[in-house]
Amino acid sequence: MLPETLIAQAATLLRRGELVAFPTETVYGLGALADDDRAVARVFTVKGRPAAHPLIVHVDSLAAVERYAASIPDEARRLAHAFWPGPLTLVLPRRDGVAAAAAGGHATIAVRVPAHPVARALLAAVGAGIAAPSANRFGSVSPTRAEHVLADLGSDVAMVLDGGPCEVGVESTIVDCTGALPSILRPGGVTREELERCLGVAVALRGHELAGPSAPGTLPSHYAPRAIVRIVSPIEIETAIEAARRSGERAVLLAIGAPPVVAIPVIGLGAGIEDAARGLYAALREADDRGFDVVITTLPIDAGLGLAVADRLSKAAGPR
Ligand code: TXA
Ligand code: MG
Repeated sequence: MLPETLIAQAATLLRRGELVAFPTETVYGLGALADDDRAVARVFTVKGRPAAHPLIVHVDSLAAVERYAASIPDEARRLAHAFWPGPLTLVLPRRDGVAAAAAGGHATIAVRVPAHPVARALLAAVGAGIAAPSANRFGSVSPTRAEHVLADLGSDVAMVLDGGPCEVGVESTIVDCTGALPSILRPGGVTREELERCLGVAVALRGHELAGPSAPGTLPSHYAPRAIVRIVSPIEIETAIEAARRSGERAVLLAIGAPPVVAIPVIGLGAGIEDAARGLYAALREADDRGFDVVITTLPIDAGLGLAVADRLSKAAGPR
């Protein structure tokens, strides 16, 4: 836990309209006071993100959601009780006249109560909502350590709160609660199976079929390192490695589970899918730092956290 003076300083900066990067259990966020449209506009500028792509408003409790949401459907309440604080974002109808810039002008608002103690302390100290996208440049790899934020945005933020490496490592699950049935817009730290167990119904994965505001996480190429990401099936690994070697590419194998013995360098993500999620973004950054041209990898199975990991890898591999 960070000293209280640092948290107080960060809260003061936010209240003055400055930007503060802070840790959450998923990834680091680039925060601005949610009700300060000018500060929020700077978030879009610093990130290089189109202004119509809405931000998530972080709050400290379900009660605080009432300030931003016009209504909270029953399913949303059940999900909030089950998974907050935690890696879940709910899209709700927006209350008129609040957080218009953060919502990108749309009629809905995304809200989340994060679990990271530093995020919670910061929210308590400001006593207001904090709008925050992931603290990276638009389209690139999300930050899971304070040094990632400094490398990406260092001079553009007033302060970076260092809360250590993020526990979950992939972003929150976004659930749209504005339709007849809740649906997943982005798989993330809370699994589809957990949502379904809570609600007692099947929850559709809508992903890029998002009808309302266009979500950057749903563009073909996103979460992408400089290196090309090449997804192959497990039986194609040897062939892909041979092809890369023959064409003179500097290739690295990103291995989920037990790393196979191969003729190129390997970055291992650890044994379980939780390890893969936690280490994924740092591994993609490492591939760039070590100067690889190509990252060869396979997708985990589409279950549990594997759905979010497969989604991020697929987007990192999307057409540029
Ligand atoms: O884990 C996370 O969710 C992290 C941490 C910092 O909380 N935040 C994050 O923010 O990933 P960002 O901006 O990188 O991604 C937020 C996603 C975007 O794809 C955005 O389009 C979508 O949420 N979004 C925000 N408001 C929305 C809305 N009203 N309707 C649909 N999608 C929305
Ligand atoms: Mg992002």
